[in-house]
Amino acid sequence: MPAVIVVGSANIDQVFRVERIPAPGETVLSAGLTTNLGGKGQNQAVAAARAGAATTFIGAVGDDSFGATIRAGLATDGIDAALVRTVDAPSGTALIAVDDAGENTIIVEAGANGALRELSSQDADAVASADVLVMQLEIPLETVQAAAGIARAAGTTVVLNAAPIRDLPDDLLASLDVLVVNEHEAAALADARPGAGGIRALAPVVIVTLGSAGAVLYEGDAPEVRVPAPKVTAVDATGAGDTFCGAFAAAIAEGQSHESALRFSVVAASLSVQVRGAVPSIPQRARIDAELAAII
Ligand code: RIB
Repeated sequence: MPAVIVVGSANIDQVFRVERIPAPGETVLSAGLTTNLGGKGQNQAVAAARAGAATTFIGAVGDDSFGATIRAGLATDGIDAALVRTVDAPSGTALIAVDDAGENTIIVEAGANGALRELSSQDADAVASADVLVMQLEIPLETVQAAAGIARAAGTTVVLNAAPIRDLPDDLLASLDVLVVNEHEAAALADARPGAGGIRALAPVVIVTLGSAGAVLYEGDAPEVRVPAPKVTAVDATGAGDTFCGAFAAAIAEGQSHESALRFSVVAASLSVQVRGAVPSIPQRARIDAELAAII
């Protein structure tokens, strides 16, 4: 079975439904509050597992009810969480507003995620023995750098979703096989490195997700590959990018080409936006395959 390992964050999402996102200084009333599993790391691990990969998650939670809920959620999806630590900090929490168009704004309190500062020898072994390592930027950067270096040395494919965006050190970029960003993140990275050849020069494979327009893949000097998203009615975009990344990781871990994996993960993300919440919206493999079969 293809093996994916995710080193990243796990949060509990407090999601407020609002007619529109409040402007600075404005108060709006919520049409409903839900509490869901989330966090970019956990979301991507769940997406990889539901897409069919044997998935391991390395992260940190607090010794609190949210931490227990996160662990239970990982177990429900069959994700190996033996290396998840419990630390002396509250579990990560996200405050999310979702408007009537399905767009969101998110504030993350890292909490326990910020304590994931070291990788043990067991962590290193797990990273080295996986087919694909997937990471994001909601944990300390030094941990992301360390995991990427271990994976690079071991021949594990390194996928980085550079979200939330920040500039990326050269040693981290040098360890990447695949960089996944959205349009805003792509623009920020390109602006931070003028003259570096643009976003497509930052990794051997660069994917820019385009929301309802799908995604574009750049691989070296080859012509770009654009995959449009199916037309759907979006109710909540939260976790769509994470669904994309986890599904993409599972697809390349099982040997799909980058183009095939791109089609697979665009469809997975388009399914996720039709359901509210992050983890609750992530589709199972059978659903992705059925949708792909219907549009080919
Ligand atoms: O990408 C969506 C995720 O961002 C949410 O689940 C939230 O927890 C934040 O990490």
